Parts: sequence; C-alpha cells; structure tokens
Amino acid sequence: MFALPDPRKAGSNNPGATNVLRIGGRLPAALVFIFDVLKGTIPVYVGYFLGLSPIALGLVGLAACLGHIFPLYFNFKGGKGVATAIGAMLPLGWELCSILLTCWLVVIFITGYSSLAAIISVTIAPIITWFVKPAYTVPVTMLCILIIVRHKQNIIRLLQGQESKIWDKGRTKE
Ligand code: G3P
Repeated sequence: MFALPDPRKAGSNNPGATNVLRIGGRLPAALVFIFDVLKGTIPVYVGYFLGLSPIALGLVGLAACLGHIFPLYFNFKGGKGVATAIGAMLPLGWELCSILLTCWLVVIFITGYSSLAAIISVTIAPIITWFVKPAYTVPVTMLCILIIVRHKQNIIRLLQGQESKIWDKGRTKE
C-alpha cells in the first residue's frame, strides 16, 4: 500500500510520526500517530475500568511508553514515546491533553521544531496535571522525564542549530 523507507534508517532515524511525515507524507504519519496513541490509551483505559489506583494506572502508562521506546522485537530500539504518552494521558481528561496539544501546535507554528514542541509540552505537563488531576502528578512526571531523556540527541542538535524542522523532507542526520 505504501512504499516507504524504513523510518529507522531515514530522516532522523526515529520511528515516529514526525519522521514518517518527513519521509512518507501526511497519511502514513497520521496512521503512525493514531496507532502510537492507541498503544498508550488502550492499556490505561483497561486499567481504569478495572478500578486500578492512580499510581497503578501511572505505572501502566509508563510501561506502555517503555514498551514503545524499547521494543522487544526491534532489539530495544524504538521511538521517543511522545504519541504513546499522549495516549496514556488521554484517559486523564480533555483538559490536560488539549492544553498540551495547543502548546505543541503553538511551538511548532512558531519554530517548526517537533522535538522542541514535545520537550516544552512535556515540561509543562506535570504542572498542569498538578492543577487538573493532582493524584497523577508523580506518574506523569516520570513519563515526562523519560521523554525528555529520550530527546537527548534532539536537544544536542537544537543547541547546535542542526535540528530538522517538521517540513524538512528526507534529511538524514547522525
Ligand atoms: O516525537 C518525536 C519528535 O519529538 C522528534 O522526532 O524525528 O525530529 O527526532 P524527530
């Protein structure tokens, strides 16, 4: 259906929606985003309906993101966990996700950097969580720290002025 290069070997080498947008276009990127979000949403919703405590639900979300970032079947080399983390936070309510999405879009619109938008959004996520769902602040903070650590190479490239913008097609980086 799609003749796409392997996103782990093209563009930024990250198997996420941003890189698939660069190398494959909008439809494949949208599909990657949706399925990555569902990886986080489905287990947390299941846990929610099973009556798990906030801390246990947080651990479920964290486990989903760890599975995405370090996948067993791809030699533990996965994505950066942004879409899966959004999915894991969706069951916490529309307030948190809509604020984070707005922040992400504003930063993208102003700078063009998907990584910077993700880093800023997850940096403010624990603060917003504290106000809207305080019981989930600790697991959301753990999730956000994991995502920021995962963006280490992006942070280095941003500081060196070498980061690709979201619309830079097919650029390969080290
Ligand atoms: O979600 C990943 C994004 O923040 C950065 O992706 O491909 O620019 O490394 P990429």
